[in-house]
Amino acid sequence: MTSPITGLNQEQRLHIDNHLDDGYFDRALRSDVLAGLTKTPKQLPPKWFYDDRGSDLFDQITRLTEYYPTEAERSILRTHAGDIAAASGADTLVELGSGTADKTRVLLDALSKTGQLARFVPFDVSEGILRSSSAELLDEYPDLTISGVVGDFENHLREIPLAGAKLTALLGGTVGNFDPEARRAFLADIVAGMKPGDSFLLGTDLVKDIDRLELAYDDPYGITAEFNKNVLHVLNARVGANFVVDDFEHYAKFDTENEWIDIRLKSLVAQEVRLEELDLDISFAEGEFLHTEISSKFRREGIAAEVAEVGLELTEWWTDENDDYALSLSVLK
Ligand code: AVJ
Repeated sequence: MTSPITGLNQEQRLHIDNHLDDGYFDRALRSDVLAGLTKTPKQLPPKWFYDDRGSDLFDQITRLTEYYPTEAERSILRTHAGDIAAASGADTLVELGSGTADKTRVLLDALSKTGQLARFVPFDVSEGILRSSSAELLDEYPDLTISGVVGDFENHLREIPLAGAKLTALLGGTVGNFDPEARRAFLADIVAGMKPGDSFLLGTDLVKDIDRLELAYDDPYGITAEFNKNVLHVLNARVGANFVVDDFEHYAKFDTENEWIDIRLKSLVAQEVRLEELDLDISFAEGEFLHTEISSKFRREGIAAEVAEVGLELTEWWTDENDDYALSLSVLK
């Protein structure tokens, strides 16, 4: 199908740049596992939760009433998409970690109502997901051009095209996985791909009652526990480890000083684990923790200060009706 407005066919409207070679994630996993399991306390980055099973478990989490952030964010987007489009004045939407581009449509609809929407730039780790979601979007938005970037937040944010009046979105509370120091570097990398006047839309979970926070990360059905333990299945499958997954227990507590949910796996017994493909043997003491994730919770003043440090000015702050979650809009000065 050829767009009546742009005169381009679907192939001409889609461009994908993949910056990840075949061995990229194998090398990154090996290096993260070696570094993380040989340090004290032991630690693994949360990005390794997400193989097919882990992504499916996360999807189940987002549908639990205990896990309020997903629905809260969606309701803010539904209510304020028009405000976001108007305030940003963007013709280009960049979505960091676009995945299946679910929430994207709400933003694309609002931007296309302003009559300015020209380009969507999804950034994701999976070329397959990026291609299938793009194919649907090209059908749904006949005037849209898509320039996808396949990469890793750590190394490829600078590959995002600069052109256009951009709205860069980082949704889902993803930024909560970074500690303050890593967050500053991450935000600076994002800003490096923006021009003065461009906007940044950030989804953040907010500090609230500890019981609700801890229930959201330790649900009564054990789905979050399975999600956390899934990283051990990933290591068993991908680096030839022999973790006995049931010898570990899910731990999720709110750290009131750092204001983050501290997520770990606790070794229930003293045990040795072999990681065959790394030729590595690791021992766990009974009760020893493996740190797997932090999920930071935010306040408006904190976000305003953090974005200011990288040259952005927080201009809008929208929350859901319970004040559980916030979407903020900041503009590069
Ligand atoms: C995908 C990082 C936003 O921190 O809430 C959910 C991941 N971990 N339950 C979050 C997660 C346990 C989630 N993020």
